[in-house]
Amino acid sequence: MHLTIDQIPRHVGGKIWAALIAPRPIALITTRDENGTPNIAPYNAFCGLANHPPMLGVSFSRRGGGPKNTLANIQATRVFVVNLVPRFLAEIMNKSAEGAEREDDFARLGLTRANAGSVDCPRVAESPAALECKVAAIHPLPPSQCELVVGEIVGVHIRDEYVVNDQGFDPMAADLLASVGAEDYLSLNGETLFLPRTWG
Ligand SMILES: Cc1cc2nc3c(=O)[nH]c(=O)nc-3n(C[C@H](O)[C@H](O)[C@H](O)COP(=O)(O)O)c2cc1C
Repeated sequence: MHLTIDQIPRHVGGKIWAALIAPRPIALITTRDENGTPNIAPYNAFCGLANHPPMLGVSFSRRGGGPKNTLANIQATRVFVVNLVPRFLAEIMNKSAEGAEREDDFARLGLTRANAGSVDCPRVAESPAALECKVAAIHPLPPSQCELVVGEIVGVHIRDEYVVNDQGFDPMAADLLASVGAEDYLSLNGETLFLPRTWG
């Protein structure tokens, strides 16, 4: 089968990219607004971009013509934290996508708030590792409506039980979760799961 973009059926729409570009790691991003209210939301248009210094990228679509809360907070504070998502946080990660309101997502989701060591931003204490980022650049991605945030990782927090000598962090022991479609997920230990989309 070969399809040009205009031949892709409407009902397949955006879902085909989630299935074709898989597996994708999930960034559970914590930010705060200018009043200090913390926000948590998942993003899987996410990848590593550079090693020295380490840099990563996350792409944001728009909601109602404006930026999502995470992007708005990043634009305002110029910092954010990428919390890695293990299998045991899968359902909470999915629920974190629901909240368009500005409220304390740590309280809403029952997660523990910790301070990032290198940036003025909260992180999720339960996460196996947190990548603490300063904004290096924010690029529009025409002709899409998306925006790419490039972050420079200036600090990392790794829970003691996942620290290993040779590479610093053990992703298998952490049983990290990946997206393998729009609503399908795979953990590094081989479990597959379906989590229905809850966000608009
Ligand atoms: C697994 C998963 C991955 C997601 N990845 C993205 C993404 O890469 N880009 C995006 O704009 N939205 C993504 N979303 C949707 C956002 O999480 C959702 O719009 C959320 O409400 C945004 O919250 P915020 O406004 O607090 O930032 C994803 C949702 C889930 C469940």
